[in-house]
Amino acid sequence: MCGIVGYIGRRQAQPVLFNCLSKLEYRGYDSCGIALLGDSIQVCKDEVRVKALEKALPPIAGLAGIGHTRWATHGEPSRANAHPHCDCTGRIAVVHNGVISNFQRLKDKLISTGHVFASETDTEVLPHLIESYYQGDLEEAVERSLADIEGSYAIIAVVAGEAKLVVARKDSPLIIGIGDRENFVASDVPAILDYTSRVVYLEDGDIALVTADGVRVRENGARIDRAEHLIQWSVADAQKSGYEHFMLKEIHEQPRVIRDTLREYISADGLAAEVIPSGEGGLENMLIAACGTSYHAALIGKYIIEQLVRVPVKVELASEFNYCGQVPPGSNALVITQSGETADALKTMKKLKEAGCQVLAITNVVGSTASRIADHVIYTRAGPEISVAATKSFISQLVALYWMALPHARVDLRTLDELIMELRQLPARVQEVLDNEAAIREHARRLARFNDVFFIGRGANYPVALEGALKLKEVSYIHAEGYAAGELKHGPFALLGAEAPVVAILASDHTGEAMLTSIKEIRARKSPLIAVVEEGNEAAGEIADSAIIVPRVNQVFSPVINTVALQLLAYYAARERGCPIDFPRNLAKSVTVE
Ligand code: F6R
Repeated sequence: MCGIVGYIGRRQAQPVLFNCLSKLEYRGYDSCGIALLGDSIQVCKDEVRVKALEKALPPIAGLAGIGHTRWATHGEPSRANAHPHCDCTGRIAVVHNGVISNFQRLKDKLISTGHVFASETDTEVLPHLIESYYQGDLEEAVERSLADIEGSYAIIAVVAGEAKLVVARKDSPLIIGIGDRENFVASDVPAILDYTSRVVYLEDGDIALVTADGVRVRENGARIDRAEHLIQWSVADAQKSGYEHFMLKEIHEQPRVIRDTLREYISADGLAAEVIPSGEGGLENMLIAACGTSYHAALIGKYIIEQLVRVPVKVELASEFNYCGQVPPGSNALVITQSGETADALKTMKKLKEAGCQVLAITNVVGSTASRIADHVIYTRAGPEISVAATKSFISQLVALYWMALPHARVDLRTLDELIMELRQLPARVQEVLDNEAAIREHARRLARFNDVFFIGRGANYPVALEGALKLKEVSYIHAEGYAAGELKHGPFALLGAEAPVVAILASDHTGEAMLTSIKEIRARKSPLIAVVEEGNEAAGEIADSAIIVPRVNQVFSPVINTVALQLLAYYAARERGCPIDFPRNLAKSVTVE
Protein backbone atom coordinates (compact mmCIF):
# COMPACT_ATOMS: atom_id res chain seq x y z
CA MET A 1 0.00 0.00 0.00
CA CYS A 2 1.06 3.58 -0.64
CA GLY A 3 2.78 4.47 -3.87
CA ILE A 4 6.15 6.16 -4.05
CA VAL A 5 7.88 7.79 -7.01
CA GLY A 6 11.14 9.56 -7.67
CA TYR A 7 12.55 11.40 -10.66
CA ILE A 8 15.92 12.85 -11.55
CA GLY A 9 16.95 14.05 -15.00
CA ARG A 10 16.53 16.68 -17.67
CA ARG A 11 12.80 17.49 -17.34
CA GLN A 12 10.99 19.59 -14.80
CA ALA A 13 10.28 17.06 -12.05
CA GLN A 14 6.93 18.43 -10.84
CA PRO A 15 4.71 17.34 -13.78
CA VAL A 16 6.60 14.02 -14.06
CA LEU A 17 6.02 13.26 -10.37
CA PHE A 18 2.31 14.06 -10.62
CA ASN A 19 1.91 11.99 -13.76
CA CYS A 20 3.65 9.01 -12.15
CA LEU A 21 1.68 9.41 -8.92
CA SER A 22 -1.63 9.48 -10.79
CA LYS A 23 -0.77 5.99 -12.09
CA LEU A 24 -0.11 4.74 -8.56
CA GLU A 25 -3.28 5.96 -6.87
CA TYR A 26 -4.63 2.43 -6.86
CA ARG A 27 -2.11 1.78 -4.07
CA GLY A 28 -3.68 4.36 -1.77
CA TYR A 29 -5.28 7.74 -2.19
CA ASP A 30 -6.19 9.29 1.13
CA SER A 31 -3.53 11.99 0.83
CA CYS A 32 -0.49 12.74 -1.30
CA GLY A 33 2.56 14.94 -1.60
CA ILE A 34 5.73 15.79 -3.46
CA ALA A 35 9.13 17.24 -2.55
CA LEU A 36 11.20 19.08 -5.14
CA LEU A 37 14.94 18.91 -4.78
CA GLY A 38 17.26 21.87 -5.32
CA ASP A 39 19.50 23.89 -3.05
CA SER A 40 16.62 23.60 -0.62
CA ILE A 41 13.69 21.18 -0.48
CA GLN A 42 10.13 22.28 -1.17
CA VAL A 43 7.45 19.98 0.19
CA CYS A 44 3.82 20.28 -0.93
CA LYS A 45 1.29 17.81 0.50
CA ASP A 46 -2.30 17.60 1.57
CA GLU A 47 -5.21 15.34 2.38
CA VAL A 48 -6.44 15.38 -1.23
CA ARG A 49 -6.25 13.25 -4.36
CA VAL A 50 -3.29 13.65 -6.74
CA LYS A 51 -5.23 15.70 -9.34
CA ALA A 52 -6.38 18.18 -6.72
CA LEU A 53 -2.87 18.77 -5.34
CA GLU A 54 -1.48 19.12 -8.86
CA LYS A 55 -4.11 21.75 -9.69
CA ALA A 56 -3.53 23.67 -6.48
CA LEU A 57 0.22 24.14 -6.98
CA PRO A 58 2.05 26.77 -9.04
CA PRO A 59 4.97 25.50 -11.14
CA ILE A 60 8.01 24.88 -8.94
CA ALA A 61 11.34 24.55 -10.73
CA GLY A 62 13.49 21.50 -10.07
CA LEU A 63 14.96 18.62 -12.05
CA ALA A 64 14.58 16.07 -9.28
CA GLY A 65 12.01 15.15 -6.67
CA ILE A 66 10.04 12.48 -4.84
CA GLY A 67 6.32 11.83 -4.41
CA HIS A 68 3.89 9.71 -2.43
CA THR A 69 0.24 8.69 -2.46
CA ARG A 70 -0.89 7.32 0.91
CA TRP A 71 -3.03 4.58 2.40
CA ALA A 72 -2.98 5.41 6.10
CA THR A 73 -1.53 2.91 8.59
CA HIS A 74 -0.04 5.03 11.39
CA GLY A 75 -2.07 8.19 11.88
CA GLU A 76 -5.28 9.28 10.19
CA PRO A 77 -5.31 10.78 6.71
CA SER A 78 -4.25 14.41 7.21
CA ARG A 79 -1.86 16.99 5.83
CA ALA A 80 0.59 16.44 8.68
CA ASN A 81 0.62 12.68 8.20
CA ALA A 82 0.96 12.87 4.41
CA HIS A 83 4.41 12.17 2.92
CA PRO A 84 7.10 13.36 2.19
CA HIS A 85 8.34 13.72 5.76
CA CYS A 86 11.30 15.89 6.69
CA ASP A 87 13.91 16.11 9.43
CA CYS A 88 14.11 19.10 11.82
CA THR A 89 16.23 21.14 9.42
CA GLY A 90 13.86 20.59 6.50
CA ARG A 91 16.87 19.63 4.37
CA ILE A 92 16.18 15.87 4.26
CA ALA A 93 12.95 14.43 2.86
CA VAL A 94 11.74 10.84 2.67
CA VAL A 95 8.83 8.94 1.13
CA HIS A 96 8.12 5.45 2.44
CA ASN A 97 5.89 2.49 1.70
CA GLY A 98 5.74 -0.18 4.39
CA VAL A 99 5.58 -0.32 8.16
CA ILE A 100 8.38 0.44 10.63
CA SER A 101 7.47 -1.82 13.52
CA ASN A 102 9.99 -0.43 16.04
CA PHE A 103 9.23 3.20 15.24
CA GLN A 104 7.98 4.14 18.73
CA ARG A 105 11.22 3.10 20.41
CA LEU A 106 13.25 4.99 17.78
CA LYS A 107 10.98 8.01 18.03
CA ASP A 108 11.29 8.18 21.85
CA LYS A 109 15.07 8.01 21.54
CA LEU A 110 15.18 10.72 18.89
CA ILE A 111 12.86 12.97 20.92
CA SER A 112 15.13 12.53 23.94
CA THR A 113 17.99 13.91 21.84
CA GLY A 114 16.01 16.98 20.78
CA HIS A 115 14.25 15.93 17.59
CA VAL A 116 10.79 17.44 17.13
CA PHE A 117 8.18 15.40 15.30
CA ALA A 118 5.37 16.83 13.22
CA SER A 119 3.26 13.73 12.48
CA GLU A 120 1.90 10.53 14.00
CA THR A 121 3.48 8.37 11.30
CA ASP A 122 6.04 5.62 11.69
CA THR A 123 7.80 7.01 8.60
CA GLU A 124 8.86 10.26 10.20
CA VAL A 125 11.54 8.51 12.26
CA LEU A 126 13.45 7.93 9.02
CA PRO A 127 14.35 11.52 8.07
CA HIS A 128 15.23 12.21 11.70
CA LEU A 129 17.44 9.13 11.88
CA ILE A 130 19.09 10.04 8.59
CA GLU A 131 19.69 13.56 9.93
CA SER A 132 21.32 12.11 13.04
CA TYR A 133 23.75 10.08 10.92
CA TYR A 134 24.30 12.55 8.08
CA GLN A 135 27.87 13.78 7.69
CA GLY A 136 27.81 14.83 4.04
CA ASP A 137 27.06 11.39 2.53
CA LEU A 138 23.36 10.64 2.16
CA GLU A 139 23.85 7.07 1.04
CA GLU A 140 25.88 6.25 4.13
CA ALA A 141 23.37 7.99 6.43
CA VAL A 142 20.49 6.03 4.87
CA GLU A 143 22.38 2.77 5.23
CA ARG A 144 23.11 3.41 8.90
CA SER A 145 19.50 4.43 9.54
CA LEU A 146 18.12 1.30 7.91
CA ALA A 147 20.29 -0.81 10.19
CA ASP A 148 18.20 0.55 13.10
CA ILE A 149 14.86 -0.14 11.42
CA GLU A 150 12.65 -3.21 11.88
CA GLY A 151 9.75 -3.80 9.52
CA SER A 152 9.20 -3.33 5.83
CA TYR A 153 10.13 -0.46 3.59
CA ALA A 154 10.55 0.93 0.14
CA ILE A 155 12.02 4.40 0.52
CA ILE A 156 13.41 7.30 -1.43
CA ALA A 157 15.49 9.87 0.46
CA VAL A 158 16.84 13.19 -0.77
CA VAL A 159 18.97 15.91 0.80
CA ALA A 160 19.05 19.56 -0.27
CA GLY A 161 22.00 20.43 -2.47
CA GLU A 162 22.81 16.85 -3.58
CA ALA A 163 21.45 15.87 -7.01
CA LYS A 164 20.73 12.25 -6.17
CA LEU A 165 18.01 9.93 -4.92
CA VAL A 166 18.91 7.23 -2.42
CA VAL A 167 16.48 4.34 -2.56
CA ALA A 168 16.20 1.10 -0.63
CA ARG A 169 13.77 -1.80 -0.23
CA LYS A 170 12.90 -4.60 2.14
CA ASP A 171 9.62 -6.51 1.81
CA SER A 172 7.99 -3.69 -0.19
CA PRO A 173 8.21 -3.41 -3.97
CA LEU A 174 10.47 -0.90 -5.69
CA ILE A 175 11.63 -0.56 -9.28
CA ILE A 176 14.00 1.77 -11.07
CA GLY A 177 13.07 2.96 -14.56
CA ILE A 178 16.06 3.62 -16.78
CA GLY A 179 15.81 6.57 -19.16
CA ASP A 180 18.09 8.62 -21.37
CA ARG A 181 19.93 11.06 -19.05
CA GLU A 182 17.07 10.60 -16.59
CA ASN A 183 15.98 7.91 -14.17
CA PHE A 184 12.80 7.05 -12.34
CA VAL A 185 11.90 5.22 -9.15
CA ALA A 186 8.46 3.79 -8.46
CA SER A 187 6.52 1.24 -6.45
CA ASP A 188 5.19 -0.33 -9.62
CA VAL A 189 5.72 -0.42 -13.37
CA PRO A 190 2.56 1.43 -14.59
CA ALA A 191 3.84 4.62 -12.93
CA ILE A 192 6.72 5.03 -15.38
CA LEU A 193 5.38 3.51 -18.61
CA ASP A 194 4.87 6.96 -20.16
CA TYR A 195 8.64 7.49 -20.02
CA THR A 196 10.44 4.18 -20.28
CA SER A 197 10.02 0.41 -20.55
CA ARG A 198 13.48 -0.36 -19.18
CA VAL A 199 13.24 -1.52 -15.60
CA VAL A 200 15.55 -2.78 -12.85
CA TYR A 201 13.84 -4.67 -9.99
CA LEU A 202 15.50 -4.06 -6.66
CA GLU A 203 15.91 -6.99 -4.30
CA ASP A 204 15.34 -6.98 -0.54
CA GLY A 205 18.30 -5.37 1.17
CA ASP A 206 19.38 -3.35 -1.88
CA ILE A 207 20.36 0.28 -1.53
CA ALA A 208 20.69 2.24 -4.78
CA LEU A 209 22.10 5.60 -5.64
CA VAL A 210 20.16 7.11 -8.54
CA THR A 211 21.40 10.15 -10.44
CA ALA A 212 20.43 11.54 -13.86
CA ASP A 213 23.34 9.67 -15.44
CA GLY A 214 23.25 6.32 -13.73
CA VAL A 215 22.18 3.85 -11.10
CA ARG A 216 24.49 2.13 -8.66
CA VAL A 217 23.06 -0.73 -6.61
CA ARG A 218 24.68 -2.16 -3.48
CA GLU A 219 23.80 -5.25 -1.49
CA ASN A 220 25.34 -5.64 1.97
CA GLY A 221 27.70 -2.80 1.13
CA ALA A 222 29.05 -4.45 -2.05
CA ARG A 223 28.34 -3.23 -5.57
CA ILE A 224 26.00 -5.54 -7.49
CA ASP A 225 24.64 -5.55 -11.04
CA ARG A 226 20.90 -6.02 -11.21
CA ALA A 227 19.64 -7.09 -14.64
CA GLU A 228 17.62 -4.68 -16.73
CA HIS A 229 14.23 -5.95 -17.99
CA LEU A 230 12.17 -4.72 -20.92
CA ILE A 231 8.52 -4.35 -19.89
CA GLN A 232 5.93 -5.70 -22.33
CA TRP A 233 3.00 -3.66 -20.96
CA SER A 234 2.11 -0.70 -23.16
CA VAL A 235 1.17 2.85 -22.16
CA ALA A 236 -2.40 2.20 -23.37
CA ASP A 237 -2.67 -0.73 -20.94
CA ALA A 238 -2.48 1.76 -18.09
CA GLN A 239 -4.91 4.30 -19.60
CA LYS A 240 -8.69 4.42 -19.63
CA SER A 241 -8.83 4.46 -23.46
CA GLY A 242 -12.16 6.28 -23.60
CA TYR A 243 -13.90 4.30 -20.85
CA GLU A 244 -15.38 6.24 -17.97
CA HIS A 245 -13.64 4.02 -15.42
CA PHE A 246 -10.74 1.58 -15.39
CA MET A 247 -13.08 -1.03 -13.93
CA LEU A 248 -15.32 -0.93 -17.02
CA LYS A 249 -12.33 -0.95 -19.34
CA GLU A 250 -10.86 -3.92 -17.52
CA ILE A 251 -14.17 -5.82 -17.60
CA HIS A 252 -14.27 -5.24 -21.35
CA GLU A 253 -10.69 -6.39 -21.80
CA GLN A 254 -11.53 -9.87 -20.53
CA PRO A 255 -11.99 -11.64 -23.88
CA ARG A 256 -8.50 -10.47 -24.87
CA VAL A 257 -7.08 -11.33 -21.46
CA ILE A 258 -8.39 -14.90 -21.71
CA ARG A 259 -6.89 -15.20 -25.18
CA ASP A 260 -3.52 -13.82 -24.05
CA THR A 261 -3.40 -16.01 -20.97
CA LEU A 262 -4.33 -19.10 -22.99
CA ARG A 263 -1.70 -18.29 -25.59
CA GLU A 264 0.79 -18.62 -22.78
CA TYR A 265 -0.22 -22.22 -22.16
CA ILE A 266 -1.13 -23.58 -25.57
CA SER A 267 1.78 -24.77 -27.65
CA ALA A 268 1.90 -24.17 -31.40
CA ASP A 269 0.49 -27.60 -32.27
CA GLY A 270 -2.55 -26.92 -30.12
CA LEU A 271 -1.70 -29.41 -27.38
CA ALA A 272 -1.64 -28.57 -23.74
CA ALA A 273 1.66 -27.37 -22.38
CA GLU A 274 1.62 -28.95 -18.93
CA VAL A 275 2.12 -26.31 -16.30
CA ILE A 276 2.38 -28.88 -13.52
CA PRO A 277 4.73 -31.66 -14.54
CA SER A 278 3.14 -34.96 -13.53
CA GLY A 279 6.51 -36.18 -12.25
CA GLU A 280 6.35 -33.72 -9.36
CA GLY A 281 3.25 -35.14 -7.76
CA GLY A 282 0.86 -33.47 -10.18
CA LEU A 283 -2.11 -31.92 -8.47
CA GLU A 284 -2.30 -34.36 -5.59
CA ASN A 285 -2.25 -32.99 -2.03
CA MET A 286 -2.73 -29.51 -3.40
CA LEU A 287 -3.02 -26.69 -0.91
CA ILE A 288 -4.07 -23.35 -2.39
CA ALA A 289 -3.86 -20.10 -0.42
CA ALA A 290 -4.83 -16.54 -1.34
CA CYS A 291 -6.65 -13.40 -0.17
CA GLY A 292 -9.80 -11.58 -1.28
CA THR A 293 -10.80 -12.07 -4.87
CA SER A 294 -7.80 -14.33 -5.46
CA TYR A 295 -9.13 -16.52 -2.64
CA HIS A 296 -12.40 -16.83 -4.56
CA ALA A 297 -10.37 -17.95 -7.58
CA ALA A 298 -8.70 -20.51 -5.31
CA LEU A 299 -12.11 -21.81 -4.17
CA ILE A 300 -13.20 -22.18 -7.79
CA GLY A 301 -9.85 -23.85 -8.50
CA LYS A 302 -10.77 -26.46 -5.90
CA TYR A 303 -13.97 -27.26 -7.77
CA ILE A 304 -12.14 -27.32 -11.11
CA ILE A 305 -9.40 -29.68 -9.91
CA GLU A 306 -11.69 -31.90 -7.86
CA GLN A 307 -14.16 -32.20 -10.73
CA LEU A 308 -11.65 -32.73 -13.53
CA VAL A 309 -8.73 -34.45 -11.82
CA ARG A 310 -10.70 -36.08 -8.98
CA VAL A 311 -8.17 -35.39 -6.24
CA PRO A 312 -9.07 -33.46 -3.08
CA VAL A 313 -7.81 -29.89 -2.76
CA LYS A 314 -7.42 -27.81 0.40
CA VAL A 315 -8.00 -24.05 0.19
CA GLU A 316 -6.84 -21.57 2.82
CA LEU A 317 -7.26 -17.88 3.45
CA ALA A 318 -3.66 -16.74 3.58
CA SER A 319 -4.36 -14.29 6.42
CA GLU A 320 -5.72 -17.12 8.61
CA PHE A 321 -3.32 -19.80 7.48
CA ASN A 322 -0.36 -17.70 8.62
CA TYR A 323 -1.54 -17.95 12.21
CA CYS A 324 -3.42 -21.23 12.44
CA GLY A 325 -2.73 -23.27 9.30
CA GLN A 326 -1.13 -26.69 9.28
CA VAL A 327 0.83 -27.88 6.26
CA PRO A 328 -0.10 -31.52 5.57
CA PRO A 329 3.04 -33.56 4.79
CA GLY A 330 3.73 -33.86 1.07
CA SER A 331 1.60 -30.86 0.14
CA ASN A 332 1.92 -29.26 -3.28
CA ALA A 333 1.44 -25.58 -2.58
CA LEU A 334 -0.08 -22.95 -4.81
CA VAL A 335 -0.43 -19.28 -3.87
CA ILE A 336 -2.57 -17.02 -6.05
CA THR A 337 -1.87 -13.29 -5.94
CA GLN A 338 -2.59 -10.80 -8.71
CA SER A 339 -0.14 -8.18 -7.46
CA GLY A 340 2.41 -10.61 -6.13
CA GLU A 341 2.89 -8.17 -3.24
CA THR A 342 0.06 -8.99 -0.79
CA ALA A 343 1.73 -9.23 2.61
CA ASP A 344 -0.43 -12.12 3.85
CA ALA A 345 0.12 -14.13 0.68
CA LEU A 346 3.88 -13.58 0.81
CA LYS A 347 3.98 -14.67 4.45
CA THR A 348 2.10 -17.83 3.50
CA MET A 349 4.62 -18.54 0.75
CA LYS A 350 7.48 -18.26 3.24
CA LYS A 351 5.69 -20.49 5.73
CA LEU A 352 5.06 -23.12 3.06
CA LYS A 353 8.66 -23.03 1.94
CA GLU A 354 9.87 -23.37 5.52
CA ALA A 355 7.63 -26.44 5.80
CA GLY A 356 9.51 -27.93 2.85
CA CYS A 357 6.88 -27.38 0.14
CA GLN A 358 7.69 -26.48 -3.44
CA VAL A 359 5.60 -23.36 -3.94
CA LEU A 360 3.91 -22.50 -7.21
CA ALA A 361 2.57 -18.96 -7.66
CA ILE A 362 -0.06 -17.65 -10.04
CA THR A 363 0.60 -13.93 -10.39
CA ASN A 364 0.03 -11.16 -12.87
CA VAL A 365 3.14 -9.13 -12.15
CA VAL A 366 6.47 -10.12 -13.61
CA GLY A 367 9.25 -9.40 -11.15
CA SER A 368 6.85 -9.18 -8.19
CA THR A 369 7.99 -10.43 -4.80
CA ALA A 370 5.79 -13.53 -5.11
CA SER A 371 7.39 -14.38 -8.43
CA ARG A 372 10.78 -14.25 -6.77
CA ILE A 373 9.87 -16.29 -3.70
CA ALA A 374 8.07 -19.01 -5.68
CA ASP A 375 9.80 -22.12 -6.97
CA HIS A 376 7.63 -22.04 -10.10
CA VAL A 377 5.53 -19.21 -11.50
CA ILE A 378 2.50 -19.19 -13.76
CA TYR A 379 1.99 -15.71 -15.14
CA THR A 380 -1.46 -14.54 -16.02
CA ARG A 381 -1.54 -12.10 -18.90
CA ALA A 382 -4.13 -9.62 -17.67
CA GLY A 383 -1.90 -6.58 -18.17
CA PRO A 384 -1.84 -3.88 -15.50
CA GLU A 385 -5.03 -3.82 -13.46
CA ILE A 386 -5.56 -0.28 -12.25
CA SER A 387 -9.07 -0.36 -10.79
CA VAL A 388 -8.89 -1.35 -7.14
CA ALA A 389 -11.63 -3.94 -7.68
CA ALA A 390 -10.09 -7.01 -9.30
CA THR A 391 -11.90 -8.15 -12.45
CA LYS A 392 -9.74 -9.23 -15.38
CA SER A 393 -7.02 -10.58 -13.11
CA PHE A 394 -9.58 -12.89 -11.47
CA ILE A 395 -10.76 -14.24 -14.81
CA SER A 396 -7.16 -14.79 -15.93
CA GLN A 397 -6.48 -16.68 -12.68
CA LEU A 398 -9.38 -19.00 -13.49
CA VAL A 399 -7.96 -19.57 -16.96
CA ALA A 400 -4.61 -20.48 -15.42
CA LEU A 401 -6.36 -22.92 -13.08
CA TYR A 402 -8.24 -24.56 -15.96
CA TRP A 403 -4.99 -24.94 -17.76
CA MET A 404 -3.30 -26.43 -14.72
CA ALA A 405 -6.07 -28.98 -14.35
CA LEU A 406 -6.82 -29.96 -17.94
CA PRO A 407 -3.65 -31.95 -18.73
CA HIS A 408 -4.36 -34.05 -15.62
CA ALA A 409 -8.10 -34.41 -16.20
CA ARG A 410 -9.39 -37.94 -15.73
CA VAL A 411 -11.59 -37.82 -18.79
CA ASP A 412 -11.42 -39.60 -22.14
CA LEU A 413 -9.55 -37.92 -24.98
CA ARG A 414 -12.70 -36.85 -26.75
CA THR A 415 -14.03 -35.08 -23.67
CA LEU A 416 -10.64 -33.48 -23.14
CA ASP A 417 -10.65 -32.19 -26.71
CA GLU A 418 -14.13 -30.80 -26.22
CA LEU A 419 -13.10 -29.05 -23.01
CA ILE A 420 -10.04 -27.54 -24.67
CA MET A 421 -12.20 -26.42 -27.57
CA GLU A 422 -14.66 -24.75 -25.17
CA LEU A 423 -11.84 -23.09 -23.30
CA ARG A 424 -10.61 -21.62 -26.57
CA GLN A 425 -14.12 -20.35 -27.27
CA LEU A 426 -14.49 -18.74 -23.85
CA PRO A 427 -13.45 -15.26 -25.11
CA ALA A 428 -16.38 -15.33 -27.55
CA ARG A 429 -18.80 -16.40 -24.80
CA VAL A 430 -17.52 -13.66 -22.48
CA GLN A 431 -18.01 -11.17 -25.32
CA GLU A 432 -21.66 -12.28 -25.50
CA VAL A 433 -22.08 -11.39 -21.81
CA LEU A 434 -20.52 -7.99 -22.49
CA ASP A 435 -22.86 -7.50 -25.45
CA ASN A 436 -25.73 -7.90 -22.98
CA GLU A 437 -24.43 -4.96 -20.95
CA ALA A 438 -27.48 -2.74 -21.45
CA ALA A 439 -29.82 -5.35 -19.95
CA ILE A 440 -27.52 -5.96 -16.98
CA ARG A 441 -27.33 -2.23 -16.45
CA GLU A 442 -31.11 -2.13 -16.07
CA HIS A 443 -30.94 -4.80 -13.34
CA ALA A 444 -28.19 -2.80 -11.65
CA ARG A 445 -30.27 0.37 -11.77
CA ARG A 446 -33.04 -1.38 -9.83
CA LEU A 447 -30.62 -3.03 -7.40
CA ALA A 448 -28.88 0.26 -6.62
CA ARG A 449 -31.68 1.53 -4.37
CA PHE A 450 -31.28 -1.32 -1.85
CA ASN A 451 -28.94 -1.39 1.13
CA ASP A 452 -28.60 -5.16 1.57
CA VAL A 453 -28.22 -7.79 -1.12
CA PHE A 454 -27.63 -11.55 -0.93
CA PHE A 455 -25.84 -13.55 -3.63
CA ILE A 456 -26.32 -17.30 -3.69
CA GLY A 457 -24.86 -20.14 -5.70
CA ARG A 458 -24.07 -23.82 -5.41
CA GLY A 459 -21.02 -25.86 -6.35
CA ALA A 460 -18.46 -23.88 -8.35
CA ASN A 461 -20.92 -21.00 -8.43
CA TYR A 462 -20.88 -20.64 -4.65
CA PRO A 463 -17.49 -18.83 -4.82
CA VAL A 464 -18.95 -16.87 -7.73
CA ALA A 465 -21.67 -15.68 -5.33
CA LEU A 466 -18.94 -14.68 -2.84
CA GLU A 467 -17.14 -12.77 -5.58
CA GLY A 468 -20.36 -11.12 -6.83
CA ALA A 469 -21.06 -9.89 -3.28
CA LEU A 470 -17.49 -8.68 -2.77
CA LYS A 471 -17.55 -6.74 -6.05
CA LEU A 472 -20.89 -5.13 -5.25
CA LYS A 473 -19.97 -4.08 -1.73
CA GLU A 474 -16.54 -2.68 -2.55
CA VAL A 475 -17.56 -0.50 -5.47
CA SER A 476 -21.18 0.44 -4.64
CA TYR A 477 -21.00 0.39 -0.82
CA ILE A 478 -24.18 -1.72 -0.78
CA HIS A 479 -23.94 -4.28 1.99
CA ALA A 480 -23.78 -7.61 0.18
CA GLU A 481 -23.23 -11.18 1.32
CA GLY A 482 -22.45 -14.28 -0.66
CA TYR A 483 -23.86 -17.58 0.54
CA ALA A 484 -23.93 -21.19 -0.46
CA ALA A 485 -27.60 -21.42 -1.43
CA GLY A 486 -28.31 -24.23 1.01
CA GLU A 487 -27.00 -22.17 3.94
CA LEU A 488 -29.37 -19.24 3.59
CA LYS A 489 -32.09 -20.95 5.58
CA HIS A 490 -29.69 -21.61 8.46
CA GLY A 491 -29.85 -18.03 9.68
CA PRO A 492 -29.82 -15.35 6.97
CA PHE A 493 -33.47 -16.13 6.14
CA ALA A 494 -34.27 -13.91 9.13
CA LEU A 495 -33.20 -10.94 7.00
CA LEU A 496 -35.16 -11.78 3.85
CA GLY A 497 -38.06 -9.59 2.78
CA ALA A 498 -39.04 -6.91 0.31
CA GLU A 499 -35.99 -4.80 1.17
CA ALA A 500 -33.42 -7.60 0.84
CA PRO A 501 -33.02 -8.72 -2.78
CA VAL A 502 -31.30 -11.97 -3.69
CA VAL A 503 -29.18 -12.61 -6.77
CA ALA A 504 -29.32 -16.35 -7.47
CA ILE A 505 -26.93 -18.10 -9.84
CA LEU A 506 -28.90 -20.88 -11.42
CA ALA A 507 -26.52 -23.29 -13.12
CA SER A 508 -27.78 -25.93 -15.55
CA ASP A 509 -25.96 -28.76 -13.78
CA HIS A 510 -26.69 -31.25 -11.01
CA THR A 511 -27.19 -28.32 -8.60
CA GLY A 512 -30.00 -26.83 -10.73
CA GLU A 513 -32.92 -28.62 -9.01
CA ALA A 514 -31.75 -27.76 -5.52
CA MET A 515 -31.24 -24.19 -6.61
CA LEU A 516 -34.80 -23.97 -7.87
CA THR A 517 -35.99 -25.14 -4.46
CA SER A 518 -33.90 -22.43 -2.79
CA ILE A 519 -35.35 -19.83 -5.13
CA LYS A 520 -38.91 -20.86 -4.30
CA GLU A 521 -38.17 -20.66 -0.58
CA ILE A 522 -36.78 -17.17 -1.05
CA ARG A 523 -39.74 -16.06 -3.17
CA ALA A 524 -42.04 -17.15 -0.36
CA ARG A 525 -40.22 -14.62 1.90
CA LYS A 526 -40.92 -11.81 -0.60
CA SER A 527 -37.31 -10.94 -1.38
CA PRO A 528 -36.95 -9.48 -4.88
CA LEU A 529 -35.09 -12.09 -6.89
CA ILE A 530 -32.72 -11.74 -9.83
CA ALA A 531 -31.73 -15.08 -11.35
CA VAL A 532 -28.62 -15.52 -13.46
CA VAL A 533 -29.65 -18.22 -15.94
CA GLU A 534 -28.23 -19.75 -19.06
CA GLU A 535 -29.71 -19.49 -22.50
CA GLY A 536 -32.06 -22.41 -22.96
CA ASN A 537 -32.94 -22.40 -19.27
CA GLU A 538 -35.03 -19.21 -19.41
CA ALA A 539 -38.11 -21.06 -18.16
CA ALA A 540 -36.34 -21.75 -14.86
CA GLY A 541 -35.52 -18.07 -14.60
CA GLU A 542 -39.18 -17.19 -14.88
CA ILE A 543 -39.78 -18.05 -11.24
CA ALA A 544 -37.57 -15.09 -10.38
CA ASP A 545 -38.68 -11.45 -10.67
CA SER A 546 -36.16 -10.92 -13.40
CA ALA A 547 -33.35 -12.82 -15.05
CA ILE A 548 -29.93 -12.04 -16.43
CA ILE A 549 -29.45 -14.40 -19.36
CA VAL A 550 -25.90 -15.63 -19.94
CA PRO A 551 -24.54 -17.86 -22.74
CA ARG A 552 -24.60 -21.62 -22.20
CA VAL A 553 -21.18 -23.19 -21.66
CA ASN A 554 -19.84 -26.45 -20.30
CA GLN A 555 -20.58 -26.21 -16.57
CA VAL A 556 -16.89 -26.33 -15.70
CA PHE A 557 -16.58 -22.90 -17.29
CA SER A 558 -19.79 -21.35 -15.96
CA PRO A 559 -17.96 -19.44 -13.14
CA VAL A 560 -16.24 -17.33 -15.80
CA ILE A 561 -19.44 -16.39 -17.56
CA ASN A 562 -21.45 -15.75 -14.39
CA THR A 563 -18.69 -13.69 -12.79
CA VAL A 564 -18.49 -11.36 -15.78
CA ALA A 565 -22.25 -10.74 -15.53
CA LEU A 566 -21.92 -9.97 -11.80
CA GLN A 567 -18.96 -7.64 -12.40
CA LEU A 568 -21.16 -5.58 -14.74
CA LEU A 569 -23.98 -5.66 -12.18
CA ALA A 570 -21.66 -4.28 -9.49
CA TYR A 571 -20.15 -1.69 -11.79
CA TYR A 572 -23.47 -0.26 -12.92
CA ALA A 573 -24.98 -0.32 -9.42
CA ALA A 574 -21.98 1.71 -8.23
CA ARG A 575 -22.31 4.08 -11.16
CA GLU A 576 -26.00 4.56 -10.43
CA ARG A 577 -25.07 5.50 -6.85
CA GLY A 578 -22.35 7.91 -8.01
CA CYS A 579 -19.52 6.06 -6.25
CA PRO A 580 -15.81 6.63 -6.96
CA ILE A 581 -15.66 3.27 -8.69
CA ASP A 582 -11.96 2.87 -9.38
CA PHE A 583 -10.88 4.09 -5.96
CA PRO A 584 -13.38 2.95 -3.31
CA ARG A 585 -13.02 4.51 0.12
CA ASN A 586 -10.56 2.95 2.57
CA LEU A 587 -9.20 0.47 0.03
CA ALA A 588 -5.97 0.07 -1.86
CA LYS A 589 -5.06 -2.37 -4.55
CA SER A 590 -1.86 -3.83 -3.31
CA VAL A 591 -2.30 -4.79 0.35
CA THR A 592 1.30 -4.80 1.49
CA VAL A 593 0.53 -4.70 5.22
CA GLU A 594 -0.83 -7.58 7.32
C1 F6R B 1 -11.06 -7.21 -4.49
C2 F6R B 1 -9.61 -7.25 -4.52
C3 F6R B 1 -8.90 -7.80 -3.34
C4 F6R B 1 -7.66 -8.59 -3.79
C5 F6R B 1 -6.85 -9.02 -2.56
C6 F6R B 1 -5.69 -9.90 -2.92
O1 F6R B 1 -11.59 -6.72 -5.68
O2 F6R B 1 -9.00 -6.83 -5.46
O3 F6R B 1 -9.74 -8.57 -2.56
O4 F6R B 1 -8.07 -9.71 -4.51
O5 F6R B 1 -6.38 -7.88 -1.90
O6 F6R B 1 -4.81 -9.26 -3.80
P1 F6R B 1 -3.74 -10.06 -4.64
O7 F6R B 1 -4.45 -10.93 -5.59
O8 F6R B 1 -2.93 -9.00 -5.30
O9 F6R B 1 -2.93 -10.86 -3.66
